[in-house]
Amino acid sequence: MTLILGIESSCDETAASVVLDGRRILSSVVASQVDLHAQYGGVFPEMASRAHIEAIAPVVEQALRDAGASVNDMDAIAVTRGPGLAGSLLVGINYAKGLALMSGKPLLGVNHLEGHVYALWLTQPLQDAEFPVVVLIVSGGHTELLLMHGHGQYERLGGTLDDAAGEAFDKVGRVLGLPFPGGPNIQKAAERGNPEAFQFPRGKRDSSYDFSFSGLKTAVLRAVTVPANKSNKADAPVSEKNSVLRSGLNVGDASASFQDALVDILVEKTARAAAEYGVSEILLTGGVSANARLRDEMKRRAGLPVRYPPINLCTDNAAMIAAAGYHRFTAGQRDDLNFDVLPNWPLTRGTYTG
Ligand code: KG4
Ligand code: ZN
Repeated sequence: MTLILGIESSCDETAASVVLDGRRILSSVVASQVDLHAQYGGVFPEMASRAHIEAIAPVVEQALRDAGASVNDMDAIAVTRGPGLAGSLLVGINYAKGLALMSGKPLLGVNHLEGHVYALWLTQPLQDAEFPVVVLIVSGGHTELLLMHGHGQYERLGGTLDDAAGEAFDKVGRVLGLPFPGGPNIQKAAERGNPEAFQFPRGKRDSSYDFSFSGLKTAVLRAVTVPANKSNKADAPVSEKNSVLRSGLNVGDASASFQDALVDILVEKTARAAAEYGVSEILLTGGVSANARLRDEMKRRAGLPVRYPPINLCTDNAAMIAAAGYHRFTAGQRDDLNFDVLPNWPLTRGTYTG
């Protein structure tokens, strides 16, 4: 019986969780800053750190209380070390170090992307994956396509060259005048839209496993807006700032067409990787894996079992950090107390070995 306290503060959620044996969630507390950042239409880093500082102690205390446990009952403390916003990561790491120092419990720095991967192991039924598997991590900050050879063994096949998939959802949502975050609101608007109303480019249809969403984003902006100021030249670069929504625009149609284009790109490359490496299943994770269209199209076109976490574990949480920490802990990893943040830490073969 191994109990891990997980702590997450890499972006705009302050979260803590107690997980048993890497699988059973005894408690999971997530303090979201969505309302705080909604007014800016995106995450505001300085505000994020300040909100983490205020939330971290009560969130951790609540997670322990909900689990009916104290720090002294834990086998280890796992905290997100990166990737993420440096100032935000620091809040979680410093708090975790304090707890580790006070309790004498081992501390583990966990890769946030690995956390998203292990959100899959928190789901029911608790059968194990048959390795290798292809993993697509799609979140607000990341789009990573991985080949996972075994527990903790990752080979990076590709990723985004510009915006992350969730970031594209959020930016297009803002252009369409939908509330932040864009992803769930675009999905909702798309339900009553025609996905064939607009023909948006798919971008980077090449043999690589990299993605590019900036062309799609610009195409949406061009299609749905007109210059705000008549004096703007017709060939002036399009930007969100000097544009307004076309009058009579059907937001549902634009949402559905954009969502289809983005999902098409994600599914095409993920399914191709699955075929090339002959894997028996595909794992989807990260905030965008909550998207119903992505889930359905991946199942339909890959012709393989597709696993994804329940909605509440798709987006950032600390149970996934505790679950990844459990696998690190049982593999013998222990970090010393003076490790620092790694804001750009990739998830590859050398993530934990340097
Ligand atoms: O994993 P996450 O909480 O944060 C990061 O680690 O970055 O993902 C948040 C992202 C946001 O960009 C949000 O718009 C997107 O996930 N998202 C969705 C859906 N729900 C959340 N995107 C598409 N469809 C959804 N249903
Ligand atoms: Zn995340």
